Amino acid sequence: MTLSFIARNIHESITLKLNETAARLRDKGEPVIHLGGGEPKSKAPIEALIAGAGMLSSGEVRYTPADGIPAMKKAIIRYTEEFYGRLVEPANVMASSGAKQAIMCAMQAVLNPQDEVIFPAPYWVSYPEMAKLCGAIPVAITPEDGRFEPRIEEIEEHVGRYTKLIILNSPNNPSGVTYSAELVSAVVELCEKRGLYLIMDDIYHRLLFDGRRPESCYQYAKDLSESCKIIVVNGVSKQYAMTGFRIGWAVANKKLIEAMTVIQGQQTSGPSALLQCAAVAAMNGPQSGVESLRLTLENNRNVLVDRLRAFDGVNLVVPHGTFYSFPDFSAWEKSSEKLAAFLLDKVRVVVVPGKEFGMEGHIRISYCGSIKDIKEGMERIRWALDPNAPNELYMGGRKLVRDWL
Ligand SMILES: Cc1ncc(COP(=O)(O)O)c(C=O)c1O
Repeated sequence: MTLSFIARNIHESITLKLNETAARLRDKGEPVIHLGGGEPKSKAPIEALIAGAGMLSSGEVRYTPADGIPAMKKAIIRYTEEFYGRLVEPANVMASSGAKQAIMCAMQAVLNPQDEVIFPAPYWVSYPEMAKLCGAIPVAITPEDGRFEPRIEEIEEHVGRYTKLIILNSPNNPSGVTYSAELVSAVVELCEKRGLYLIMDDIYHRLLFDGRRPESCYQYAKDLSESCKIIVVNGVSKQYAMTGFRIGWAVANKKLIEAMTVIQGQQTSGPSALLQCAAVAAMNGPQSGVESLRLTLENNRNVLVDRLRAFDGVNLVVPHGTFYSFPDFSAWEKSSEKLAAFLLDKVRVVVVPGKEFGMEGHIRISYCGSIKDIKEGMERIRWALDPNAPNELYMGGRKLVRDWL
């Protein structure tokens, strides 16, 4: 069988694969602790469930316009005004089946084969693969000295005649850091100067800690006309714990949204009527659930950070938001793949190898689960690695004896 060049060069999503591995082991009765997850455990807002159920029971669930139902567009416009201070028109917004599809459509609308897409490392695992799906070339910028924020000069150095697009994701998956205002404003300026598109992937922007507030990239733009090349992407997955609803959106200039809509229309048609209806209810309903999720995550972050700080040799940049941390474990094991496989094998803890995010030596540890899982997971990791830890550990009622240190 001959598969296409693209099919042969695209990698499976490691995070989805790990979810499957964890589920398989759990089905076998293994006491797995999943610290590799990418979704909040809280329930979707009740308003979303009621609205979705109402539409479902009406039996009137039809095709939708390719760019989203009017109520969804209205909700996105209101959201953009509230969080970005910008009044946009319906023709400036497109609803998608998840932020992922919004990013993909934006890439397909602007990239030609051989064009280059720049993003800082560590990066969301999907950016390189999505660029490759367009026949484009991913260019990851790895900041010097293991920092999680590149200097603008490091980005500038990589801008060449084929560069078409820069992607910033802040707060960032997997590091949890927010980029400084200096960096974001310098990137906006660079894009304006060089005529580049800029995707701001803001999917975690309301899940911020320590008093930080979501920031609008538009405040740094000189050109807010219909030739503005900023594409803001967001969605309901993370902030409303609605990952499985698959609703996201993009805000951009009208011509680009029109092109993205044509692409989306030919790929999947408009996003599901049912799920847009639920998303609208979440976005227009009481927002206390977002704040309570944010508070829970901040508390979980604190618990995890305490545990990581007590770990000799582990370097950690304290996350500013999201539900991820990205500690450097290279003092214990240089290969993040080996370390992740070892932790799963010996103590049944799932973490994601940093190599997948473009930074070897690190692992991504999520704190979107329960405090109990975070504490027990970290205790198991410590036991597996630290020769000074007691020789025995009880895991899911089983006694383990360490025979590898
Ligand atoms: C940085 C980033 N962008 C986009 C997405 C996709 O979100 P959605 O579920 O809306 O497709 C994710 C999901 O993990 C993510 O981490």
